[in-house]
Amino acid sequence: MVKVVVCGAAGGIGQPLSLLLKQSDLVTDLSLYDVVNAAGVAADLSHINTKSTVRGHGRDDIDAALAGAHTVVIPAGVPRKPGMTRDDLFKINAGIVRDLAEGVARNCPSAFVLVISNPVNSTVPIVCEVLKKHGVFNPKKVFGISTLDVVRSSRFVSEVDPSIDPKNTRVTVIGGHSGVTIVPLLSQIHGQAFTKEQLDTLTHRIQYGGDEVVKAKDGAGSATLSMAYAGARFTNVILEATIGGKTGLIESTYVNLLADPESTSVFRTKTGLDYFAQDVEFGPEGISRIVPLPVISDYEQSLLNEAIPELMTNITKGASFITDST
Ligand code: NAI
Repeated sequence: MVKVVVCGAAGGIGQPLSLLLKQSDLVTDLSLYDVVNAAGVAADLSHINTKSTVRGHGRDDIDAALAGAHTVVIPAGVPRKPGMTRDDLFKINAGIVRDLAEGVARNCPSAFVLVISNPVNSTVPIVCEVLKKHGVFNPKKVFGISTLDVVRSSRFVSEVDPSIDPKNTRVTVIGGHSGVTIVPLLSQIHGQAFTKEQLDTLTHRIQYGGDEVVKAKDGAGSATLSMAYAGARFTNVILEATIGGKTGLIESTYVNLLADPESTSVFRTKTGLDYFAQDVEFGPEGISRIVPLPVISDYEQSLLNEAIPELMTNITKGASFITDST
């Protein structure tokens, strides 16, 4: 049995994400949890002729929704409106993510937990601290989904250089998932040498790509469809590596660096960061290794220097939301 739970399944991301996950043959049970309309979304998806059963769970049914889950994906919470930063969402989303993590600790303590709810830089530390509090934290199994930054990078570079195939060009994106903390390593694209002007434009567009969508939606939310695509891509990597037997799968994702203390100890000592987005290789237990940082350009180093203090603030804010309340 491979049960995948989507928490926030009736939302702008949750619905298309659930639709994409319904297409996976690796999932046997799709469990849709939301405080509104989960039953309706579940009834609709349950008619699609793929292997998984679909069940909807409402507000008071969180324990049944999560019980025995293999993977829990969390896009629950409020999205941005024009003029808001991801950090502005903290007030509401921190409590929502905390309560869902408590549910994971109670009902499926060994599940893979994939966090979409923003601000990811802070919500991932919240999940980890809750799981620590319950003695069930495994750093190899908790992820912030920063795949949308990777997806956008591949697409945006192909608009600058049409010889790049966006589908088959994976850009490593390190740091975190908001503004200046998003550090795309464009120097790593094989055979590519962008001009300084192109680098400036591309980097800014990747860091603030979410704002393009927030502005275009004009108050109706943030990226949902591209995020669902990115979320399904990342969830499928987890499923393929942990139950599909695939090896060598790599994605950039925001993780607790204790997942691979050996390869990250120098970096942790140098920066003081406990969480960072980096290329990760997956195996049957989740993270099999955090790929060491490649040699980066001076341009990327200066971006990283700017990202580190902001990340530190975001991480401390998330972690202390839990540690200071106990
Ligand atoms: P939405 O408002 O359309 O959907 C959120 C859903 O969460 C709603 O259905 C709501 O009922 C549900 N919800 C609220 N409280 C809940 C709770 N306690 N338990 C379960 N469900 C609950 O928002 P949207 O657009 O789907 O965005 C969701 C989150 O994803 C936001 O925080 C947004 O900032 C974030 N996001 C993350 C991205 C990333 O790259 N990681 C990209 C885009 C958005």
